[in-house]
Amino acid sequence: MLIFQGKALVYLLLSHVLQLFHDVKWSQKKSWGAANEDCVSRGAILVSIHSQAEEEFLSIYSKGTSKWIGLKHNPTEGGYSWSDGTALSHTNWGPGEPNNHEGREECVEMVSTTNGTFSWWNDLNCDAHQDWICTLLCLVCNSCVLCYKVTGTC
Ligand SMILES: *[C@@H]1O[C@H](CO)[C@@H](O)[C@H](O)[C@H]1NC(C)=O
Repeated sequence: MLIFQGKALVYLLLSHVLQLFHDVKWSQKKSWGAANEDCVSRGAILVSIHSQAEEEFLSIYSKGTSKWIGLKHNPTEGGYSWSDGTALSHTNWGPGEPNNHEGREECVEMVSTTNGTFSWWNDLNCDAHQDWICTLLCLVCNSCVLCYKVTGTC
């Protein structure tokens, strides 16, 4: 368990609770579903992104790669939803995206340039094998953020 005191520790928190699987060998890359299962097996979940600051941090952290994030098409909601259940408050679609090419692109990847200073989202076939980013499940309890390996309560 990791414990962080205070409020303005977003970056510290991000750097400690993220588990990046980027630049992995092709044979180790995963479909969206397998990446999601891998995160869950670690007491984590595919990362969700809620601000430009988080976007930029993640992009630098995983520069030069295309990786799954926790966003997936959700027909019942008529749009997209995060696998961790948080609200879709920030988006960063690339030009012309999401295009649901041939009606087969239900999952979303984040693409970052070589130096990571620019990134965008692209919808992609869920069976494509990509890198992925997990984030540990955390709870905000009073002024602390507690990150458990398993879901816990304050
Ligand atoms: C990052 O790369 C872009 C080109 O993709 C370039 O315009 C920019 O100056 C670079 N930034 C840094 C900090 O190297």
